[in-house]
Formats: sequence, structure tokens, C-alpha cells
Amino acid sequence: MKDFLELAAARQSCRNFADRPVEHDKLVKCVEAARLAPSACNSQPWSFVVVEDPLVVPEVAKTSQVLGINEYVSGARAFIVLLEEHAVLMPRLRAFLDSQYFAKGDLGGALLSLCLEAESLGLGTCILGLYDREKLSALLNIPLETRFAGLVAVGYPADPKTREKTRKPLESLIRFV
Ligand SMILES: Cc1cc2nc3c(=O)[nH]c(=O)nc-3n(C[C@H](O)[C@H](O)[C@H](O)COP(=O)(O)O)c2cc1C
Repeated sequence: MKDFLELAAARQSCRNFADRPVEHDKLVKCVEAARLAPSACNSQPWSFVVVEDPLVVPEVAKTSQVLGINEYVSGARAFIVLLEEHAVLMPRLRAFLDSQYFAKGDLGGALLSLCLEAESLGLGTCILGLYDREKLSALLNIPLETRFAGLVAVGYPADPKTREKTRKPLESLIRFV
């Protein structure tokens, strides 16, 4: 069992997936981890689409493959789409708060929880920012006006070795008062 910091360090974008199916229950657990994430006024501004149908998965992969980028996504065995739902905050506070501003942070937290749960289950993930939203919406029957908060490719990593992280040094980011 990894402690949390080890888990956070082990999570990495997987760009080489093994030819091995992903269990339905594990995908549900990933969404469950996201569901438990905190959100402003517990507004939970999210919903999820889990793509596991072997006929649909390659079609989703294609929507993320533009300009020769994301070719490796063809190896993903599932996708999880995180959708932004309207955040309903406490009526008393609504006049002071921009609910969708908080929603972005809430959704980021949910997305990371999802990826960390996948890591703890031995799965690899890659969050994809590059995809054809219109094609993806049509494919998954998602209303075009719905905002996407994340498309995550999921599969077992072909090479589970953890790469060294490229990050700004801690000392350059932190200030103690
Ligand atoms: C919002 C977002 C969009 C991303 N889009 C892509 C993408 O389209 N293709 C890709 O290969 N990686 C994508 N990444 C992965 C980042 O490149 C990666 O998280 C970053 O380089 C840090 O590496 P690590 O995840 O291995 O720690 C995305 C990550 C985020 C958070």
C-alpha cells in the first residue's frame, strides 16, 4: 500500500498501454473516487461518461488524434469523460460567488482523484486536452452545449516503471510566513 505522496509521485501520464482489457469494476471505482471529491457548497458540478464498449473506444480515441498527436491513445482500453454540470451554490451566497469559477477547481480535484484511484488500482491514465469536442459530443450523445472538464484515456500500462518527474523545484514555489 503506497502512502499518498508515493501515489502522487507514481501517477504519470501513460502513453503506452498494454493489450489488456480494463475491468468494469475498476472504472466504476475511479468514478467513485471522483464523486467523493470536495466541491464549493458541495455543489458537485459533474457527471461522467464511462466508455468501455470495444466498438466505441477506438472511435473516441480517433477524436483525440489530430495533427499526428496522441497516436498512442489507440492503445487505451477505456475512456472516462468528466462533464461540467451547473453548480448550484447556497442561495444566500449566490450573489457573492461566481459558481462556475469554483466549478473549475472542483472539477480539477475530481479529475485528479479519478487518476489517483486508477493509479492505486494499477491502471494507467492520460488526461487529454486535445480532442474534437463536436465529434466526441456526437459520438457519446452529449448535448453540444455541455462543457467538457476532462477526457481521460485508461488502460494498463505496458511499462509500469515510474519516470522521473519534470517539475519546478519545491523551493521556487513555496514561501513560509
Ligand atoms: C488538462 C490537461 C490536458 C492534457 N492533454 C494532453 C494530451 O492531449 N495529450 C497528452 O499526451 N498528454 C496530455 N496531458 C498530460 C500532460 O502533458 C502531463 O500531465 C504533464 O506533462 C505532466 O506529466 P505527468 O502527467 O506524466 O506527470 C494533459 C494534461 C492535462 C492536465
